[in-house]
Amino acid sequence: MERFARLFSQNRHWASTTQKQHPEFFNELSAQQHPDFLWIGCSDSRVPANQIVELAPGEVFVHRNIANVVDPADLNCGAVVQYAIDHLKVEHVLVVGHYGCGGVQAALCETSLGLADQWLERVDRVKQQHRECLKVLRDQKSQHDRLCELNVIEQVRNLCSMQVVLDAWARDQVVMVHGCIYGLEDGLIRDLGVSCKSSEEVEPHCAAAIAHLGEPHPSPGSSK
Ligand code: CO
Repeated sequence: MERFARLFSQNRHWASTTQKQHPEFFNELSAQQHPDFLWIGCSDSRVPANQIVELAPGEVFVHRNIANVVDPADLNCGAVVQYAIDHLKVEHVLVVGHYGCGGVQAALCETSLGLADQWLERVDRVKQQHRECLKVLRDQKSQHDRLCELNVIEQVRNLCSMQVVLDAWARDQVVMVHGCIYGLEDGLIRDLGVSCKSSEEVEPHCAAAIAHLGEPHPSPGSSK
C-alpha cells in the first residue's frame, strides 16, 4: 500500500510545482487539447512517450500496446487514430518501436507469454514476411534489432492502409506518418526514414527504408 499511497503525494507535488511554474497550465489544458502528434508505441514502461521527446501534457496523443502494433482491425487502435486525425487534426503520426522489446523477442524466439501470444501473431507475420532478410544475420541480437525495425516499418504500412488515413490524404489534410525506433541503451530515438504524407509515397518509402536498414540513420536535427 505504501507504494500506492506514494503516488498521491508525488501527484500533489507535481501539481503544485506545475501550478507554480505555469499558473494558467491547468486552466488552459482543461479547456482544450491541441496536440500536434499521435504517438503509437510499445506499452513497455521504459518507453514513456512524453518524457522521451520532452513534450508536456497536451502535446502528444498516445496509443500504446505490446510491440507497437497497428492492426487496422483493432477497434482500440482504430478509434484512437480516427479521433486523432478527424477531431484533433494531428499533423504527425509516429509509430515508435524500441530495441530490447519483449514482445518482438517472444515472436522471434517463439516463446509463450500467455494471452499476448495471440496479439503477437501480428509480429510473427512480420517475421515470416522478412525471414530471408533475418536469416542472413548471424546472431540473435542482430535478428532481434532488425525485427524491431522491420516491425515499425510494417506497422507504418498498416497505418497508411487505414481508411481514416487514406480519407485524410484524399481531402488534402496534412498527415505525416513516421517510423522511429528508440534505444533503451542510449535514450535516443532514430528516424527510420519511412515518412509518408500521401498514399503514393507509402510503398516506395517503405521499400527504401527496408533496403537501407543496417546503415547509419541519423535523426533529423542531429549534428552528424
Ligand atoms: Co516493447
